[in-house]
Amino acid sequence: MILDKMLDGVPSHARNRVEATMENIGMMLQVKNPRVATSMIPSAVRGLFLQQGKRNDAVKMQASHNVHFDLTYGLDFPEMNALYRRAVANQWDGDRDLDWSISVDPLNPEIPIINQDFIPMESLKQYGIKLNQKEAAQANYNISCWMLSQFMHGEQGALYASAQVTESVKWMDGKFYGATQVMDEARHLEVFLRYLDTKMEKTYAINDNLFVIIDDLMTDSRWDIKFLGMQIMIEGLALGAFTTLHNNTQEPLLRKLLQYVIQDEARHVHYGVLALKEHFLHGLTDSERREREDWAFEVALLMRNRFMGHEVYEEMFEGQMTRRQWNEFITASPAMQRFRQQMFKRLIPNLNYIGLLSPRMQKHYEAAGLWQFASGKNASELNENDLLADLQ
Ligand SMILES: [Fe+2]
Ligand SMILES: [Fe+2]
Repeated sequence: MILDKMLDGVPSHARNRVEATMENIGMMLQVKNPRVATSMIPSAVRGLFLQQGKRNDAVKMQASHNVHFDLTYGLDFPEMNALYRRAVANQWDGDRDLDWSISVDPLNPEIPIINQDFIPMESLKQYGIKLNQKEAAQANYNISCWMLSQFMHGEQGALYASAQVTESVKWMDGKFYGATQVMDEARHLEVFLRYLDTKMEKTYAINDNLFVIIDDLMTDSRWDIKFLGMQIMIEGLALGAFTTLHNNTQEPLLRKLLQYVIQDEARHVHYGVLALKEHFLHGLTDSERREREDWAFEVALLMRNRFMGHEVYEEMFEGQMTRRQWNEFITASPAMQRFRQQMFKRLIPNLNYIGLLSPRMQKHYEAAGLWQFASGKNASELNENDLLADLQ
């Protein structure tokens, strides 16, 4: 409120920048564990303050992990081997298996890319903004392009992270499996890129917060943090987002594309929990385990609170409503509520299964309203069909 008063009369673009900076500083101050905050600072500076993801055509990220070159060739992880066989058997072809001849008109109200009630534009009235039908359709279209663009950027991150994980994982069966994931992520990147390019014809730059998480994972040398971040946290986020979008779109090509991708992502999370359960239970000191517990919690909150579509706000509504009002509007939308529900339903049981929901952490998850998900089924108990059952 004090900030609102201070910013009275400040031009809208400058005001938005100040609010964004305050939000970013607030985000860093909210990270309670100093080791977690310190490890994230370089990525936060590159992503939030320097906005490297928006200002350049390419960004160099310095990887520093060890490659585990195995000379025993021991195939001693049968569950992972079974996952590898399943991945080999279920490869699909993004060109052959999807019907790209389907014509998509993203502004056609009969077949919306996202349903009108997903982010109800009429709620903008409470902020004095009234959109006509055409403007509402345009806002809806922009939000769809924004979401799909973030999926595409996330898939590029997943491609590199899965390649790094394949190098650093110690099990030979894990390396076999990892290679299939690299292929999967390349195909996901291919199909989202093609959909955006040929059907939507509009892409958005990478969201600063997504950039921070990806940059942090690319540059962290600890294989298990990379694994936790990519295979559990980001994959969980992706699964929640893909399922939510699938259930709120009528467009047949996108629905089919998402079904294929979701089946692959289910295996990716499964791989994550298999690899980390053993390591977190027996391979860490108490202080290392506590750091991972804190890290996972902070990243879960980041993922919950930081994907608000600000790029669309800046493009369409800056000057008509404040950034804080936009955050309120998005947070209250069915889109965000369904997404959070779906994401945490799948993510929190996995954190529990790999041993990161210790009694020490319970109160934090309770305070964040996330403990209710703890007893759900984890990825090792779910197969592709269980996840497809979430699709409507
Ligand atoms: Fe993917
Ligand atoms: Fe994935």
